[in-house]
Formats: sequence, C-alpha cells, structure tokens
Amino acid sequence: RYATASSGPQARAAVPNYDLFRQRLDRARATVLENKPLTLAQKILYAHLHDVSSMSSAPVPGETYLKLSPDRVAMQDASAQMAILQFMLSGMKQTAVPTSIHCDHLVEAYEGADKDVARSWQTSREIYEFLQAASQKYGIAFWKPGSGIIHQLVLENYAAPGTLMLGTDSHTPNAGGLGMLAIGVGGADAVDAMASIPWELKAPRVLGVRLSGSLHPWGSPKDVILALAGKLTVRGGTGYIVEYFGEGVASLSCTGMATICNMGAEVGATTSVFPYTPSMARYLRATQRASIAAAADAQQATYLSADEQVAQSPEKYYDEIVDIDLSSLEPGYNGPFTPDLYTPRSQMADTVGREQWSDKVSAALIGSCTNSSYQDLSRAASLARQASERGLKVAAGTEFLVSPGSEQIRATMERDGIQQAFESIGAQVLANACGPCIGQWNRDENPVVKNRETNSIVSSFNRNFRARNDGNPNTMNFLTSPEMVLGAALSGRLSFNPLVDTLTDSAGKEFRLQPPTGDELPKDGYAQGRDEYRPLLDHQPAMEIPIAPTSARLQTLEAFAPWSGQEFSDTRVLVTVQGKCTTDHISAAGKWLKYKGHLENLSRNTLIGAANAAMDGQVNLVRNAVEGLEPAQGTIPDVALAYKKASVPWLVIADYNYGEGSAREHAAMQPRFLGCNMVVARSFARIHETNLKKQGVLPLVFARPDEDYFIFAKDPHELVVRTQGVSDINEHNPVVSLLVERVRSGNVVESYSVECRHTMSADQIGWFKAGSALNLIASQQGA
Ligand code: F3S
Repeated sequence: RYATASSGPQARAAVPNYDLFRQRLDRARATVLENKPLTLAQKILYAHLHDVSSMSSAPVPGETYLKLSPDRVAMQDASAQMAILQFMLSGMKQTAVPTSIHCDHLVEAYEGADKDVARSWQTSREIYEFLQAASQKYGIAFWKPGSGIIHQLVLENYAAPGTLMLGTDSHTPNAGGLGMLAIGVGGADAVDAMASIPWELKAPRVLGVRLSGSLHPWGSPKDVILALAGKLTVRGGTGYIVEYFGEGVASLSCTGMATICNMGAEVGATTSVFPYTPSMARYLRATQRASIAAAADAQQATYLSADEQVAQSPEKYYDEIVDIDLSSLEPGYNGPFTPDLYTPRSQMADTVGREQWSDKVSAALIGSCTNSSYQDLSRAASLARQASERGLKVAAGTEFLVSPGSEQIRATMERDGIQQAFESIGAQVLANACGPCIGQWNRDENPVVKNRETNSIVSSFNRNFRARNDGNPNTMNFLTSPEMVLGAALSGRLSFNPLVDTLTDSAGKEFRLQPPTGDELPKDGYAQGRDEYRPLLDHQPAMEIPIAPTSARLQTLEAFAPWSGQEFSDTRVLVTVQGKCTTDHISAAGKWLKYKGHLENLSRNTLIGAANAAMDGQVNLVRNAVEGLEPAQGTIPDVALAYKKASVPWLVIADYNYGEGSAREHAAMQPRFLGCNMVVARSFARIHETNLKKQGVLPLVFARPDEDYFIFAKDPHELVVRTQGVSDINEHNPVVSLLVERVRSGNVVESYSVECRHTMSADQIGWFKAGSALNLIASQQGA
C-alpha cells in the first residue's frame, strides 16, 4: 500500500501511494461517479474503494454502503484489548495493514507523571504484557504507557494527507488536521481492517464549514469547534463528514485544525477533514516527514483539495453549509454535562448567575489529545508567565493539571521553559496519558468529590458527560480553550473574562492579562524525549500471548451463538431508556476500565447509567418482567444476569441518538453477552448502531418514534414481544414489526403492532445470521 517504506510496513515516514489513490479515484470517477465534481472527503473515500467494479451505480449518501480499504489502524489500550481478543479468533497471522497500539487510557493520575506511569505498570501489567506480546506476534507497533495519547502520537507519526485510517477511539478524527480521513470505530471494525476485509461505511453526506477571516489574539481553533457544536448539537453531524474550506483555513495551524477535527466527534460526525495546507507541510517537516510533505505538495491542487468546481460553487456540492467568521468568533465555554451547550465568553458571567452554575472553579486542566500542541501550550504558558512575574499563582482551592499529549511534546515543553512556566503558578504535570479526561483521576479524597458537592471544573478537553472526569455527578465540567482554562485557573472563577476582567497581583495591584502569544511550532524543532518511550517494533510470529485463566481482567472470548433462523419470541423489555444514553451510560468507564478485556466482569456495569422511563427516570433500576425470578426489582445488570441465567431473551427500548459518544464496542457486546437480542430506538448514533450489528444484536428504529416509544414507557415489565419480518430479513425490505402483548396476571389485556426499520446491508445481515461479524470472519478463514 505504500510506495516507499524505509523500515517495513510500520515505518513512520512511509509515503502514501498517491499514484494508486489517483488511479482508483479516476476509475471511480469515470465509472460510477459520472465525472461529477467531488469534495475532498469524497475524493479520499472513493480513492479507497475496495473494488469499484462491484458498484453498479453512483453511491447515494445516507443509503449506499461503501466497501473501503483503510491504510492504517490505531488502537488505544482500553479498546485494543477486545480488538486483539477478537483478532486472535480470526485466524490471521499478521495484521494486513500497519497497526499501532497506544497505552494511554489506563494510567491513573495520582502523584504526577513518572510515578503514575510506574503505578500503572503495577496495576495493569498483565494488560500491557498481553498487548505487547500480541503486538509482537502480529507485527503491530507498540507504544508503552507514558509515550503519549493515541491521537497526538498518530498526528506526530502516522497521519498523512489523503489517507484513510480507522481508530478504535471516537476522537480518531483528530488526524483530519493533517488531511487524513480518520474514522473512530469499534474494535470489531478495526479487526476487519487488520484482516484486510473490506470495511463498510454508509456513504456519508458532506457538511461544508466555510471559514472566513482570521482568529483574533484571544481566539483559538478550539473556539471554532465549540461554536460549531453549539450550532449543530450532539446529533447535528450524524451521517456527515465535516469538511472545512474557505479562506480562513489558511490562517490555522495544522495542530489547530487537529483540535477542530478531534472534537467533531462531539457533533456525531463520521469524521472531519481539512484540505492540505502549507501549515500541514510545515508540521510534517517539523516531525521529520519531509518526504511525505514533498509528495503531498505535488498532490495539493489535484487530490488533496476539493475539486475546483466545488470551490467555485460550494452551495451546489456540499449537502449543507455552515459559515463561521473567525474574526468575530468569541472564546467559547461548552457545558456543563454536554458538549453542545455553548456560551460565548462575553455572556458567561450572566449565564453563570442565571443558571446558578457553581462559579468557583475547583480544577483547571489543560492538554489531553484535544489541546496538547506546542501552539496551545506555548500560548497558555505566556499567560502563566504574566501571572508568575506578578507573583501570582493559581487561585486558592483550584487545582491546575497539565496532561501532555506525547513524550515529544512533554520534552519540548520542558526544554523550552513551558513546563516551568506552568509549575511557577502551581501546576502539576501529569503523565503523557489520558488521565482525568477519562476519569482516571484520583480525586476521591477531594471534599468536593467525597461529599458529592456541586462544583465546576474547566478543561481544554473534548467531552464532558456527567461524572466523566471525577465520578461526581455534581461536578459541572466546562470545555474551553487552553487560554481560557488559564484564566479560570488564575481567577478561580467560571465567570472571569480575561479579555476585560482584572486579576490582583501579589502587591495588591490590579492588572489585566495581555493576549496570549505562542509559536505554531518549536523554533528549535521538537525534542525527542526519552528513548524508552519510542515504539517497539519487533515482529515475533511465534510469540505466545499470555492470558491467565484466573485473570479478572482478561478472558478469552467465546463466539456468540448464531441466529436460530426463527423470529424472536417471548422477548422481555429490560428497560425503556429515557433521554440521553451514551456509551458511557451503557458501559461505564472510570473504575470499570480495568475489565475492558474481560467481558463477563465488565458486563456487571451494563446500562448502569441509563434512566428508566417507566420509573420516573430513576437510574439503574428496573422491575423484573418474569414472575418468580429474583430480583423482582433491581439494578439493570442484576436483572439482565437473571434473564441470562434463565435463558430469557430481552431487548432495550431506547430514546433518540442512543449510543452517542464513543466507539466502545463493549456497549454492544455486553448486552449481547447478557442475552439481548434487539435494541429498538427512536434513533441511533452511527458507530453504536454498527457495533450492535457487528455483535449480532438487531438494531431497529421506530417507524413512528414520537408515538410508539411511549407504548414501552408504561410498565414495560408487562410486555411480551415477538417479531415479524426477522425470519426473512433482507437488505431490500427494511420493515420488521414488533407484536407486543401486555400481559397482566396471565391475561393479555392489550396488544400492539409496532412497525420498525432495520438499516442492515447484505453483509451485515450475514453478521447477524452468523451470530456476529467475527463468527463470519472466522468461518471465512477456516478457523
Ligand atoms: Fe484520551 Fe480523552 Fe483523548 S480519553 S484519547 S485524552 S478524549
């Protein structure tokens, strides 16, 4: 797949085979695409069609499934466990495309960088050794804990303009800042790519975001995506690739564009991408990939940007257009509890008062995969220096934590005095890992968490679902730029506006922070950091992969049973979920992360965050639908386990955008493991719907979501469901009906016929019939 590779398929500086991409694209244009002008996203997709000859007509966005050949796979340590366990069952000897594993999610933030990494080896040694051995066996690049966060490392090492990557993490689109089409998927999709099985994606629509003007001195790329999330909401990007264009693009750094693409996950977009720019070339050269920059320069006008006709008449070719004027863009604050609740900086003080948000900021956090660039950190450090020169530290009662995205960034930050600037105002630098972003934050002894107090935290991260960061449902978490986080850290107040408000220095004198300054790239180049954090590339096909039978954290997978060929009958409603139900609600992170490789143990957290519509929105509480089965009322996993033991099939009724948030396939595997056969939703988040299909669970949407959902909101424990249309399920007829009876004291008192739709392609129906996509892969490998 690569024209040159200096040291094998994992080589950092491998130059994409643009000739091959162009050939494929030209062929697709001349045949099924009728030579119509294409956006950049379409070009990259169609340059990665697995087999254009298998397409008989132009793909219809939102309907046609494209079969694609990704160039690369990246996985983080939490999701890689299950992907590797699945890949082990596929019968493959080596991954078919370059693949990397990044240990970033399992490092808990306790005492600071090195101690925390050492502690993670104590707590997660068996996981790391499992992932390392599997990497060696299958020829995967292994990045050990402390080396950095997946998306930052991909940007620094593997992202390349015009290529297609799958990542087992929802913020994989970060690499769109370097012109890559990078898509967050579940482990099962990653296994497809690793096994060279065409990967399916429903042809997305393309939403164009036209950027004009340039950012003002306090503005940051983060503000672009915060404002866009406010406009689009968490569902607005579903089914779309977000493609940026317009004269404002040229003013952005590569890493700034990565920040914008990273958080495109928060609007539900398939991915986000920028056209190739000189700032991308500068970043490639700064990260020692001049050969890729040279090759990409030659493709800039043809392959790595939208067609000229699209640039001339964007309204004609993008499915939707959103305009953002960078010059008038204010710093934004999104939250609490959802990333689309946008408040411009100038309205924050009023809004804090009106909404009665806690004004006191108990913690300010910068870094993470979202905002770890040299530009981000050097600009934030310029504010820290202004404060420390006046003898100021972070506000009393406010913690200030820094999570560098990679060892390279950390070492450069240290060499250039950025770390010292942060420490001079009282920062603690954490490991090059996810830490507080994913709830790996030892805050249990902090009174605000211990006493479940209402408090506010401000971060430059990307996601802020309730309880995500510290487990306290009363922690209000706001997302903003690193520069605004510094303002919050120094003032200790959410309402503080550094553009107009003043701070008081150690001599009691008021002063105003001057606008931040920083460098796009380090003047002296990036420091490489410690050798121990380089990737391990050591292919050992005979390597044994250690999984102890007694392990609480790793468990060899058993294949799910194939579909019986019959309609589903006697199915009970486990829960009718009310409102937002993210993959965090379905398969919680935090302390559960340690069971990511042990399906049975992890399934004890299934749907513990779900609110029950039938019980006034109570969380994790349901009534048992089977008389005599214990518990009569209990937690969702307890009742699900009781059904599993009694071989009672069950389903979930879900609200809108069920499964939003992440690519976690556990959120599909756990229900399947516990006996779920269907999830019927008012609508689904794309990745989760696909994950359900991969695991052999039938996802259906209500044909009349505003009416039929409510049938299940009243005493769902009385309902017995059977299907009509599953026994002859096919891709041409999406209709499946639920025949529902309400049974009281053994008598049917009401019955309903509820029309639903499935969205499965022929291949996906194959997964369903086989019991899972993995079962189908294994049978094709003869495993
Ligand atoms: Fe890690 Fe948070 Fe990014 S969990 S990958 S730093 S979104």
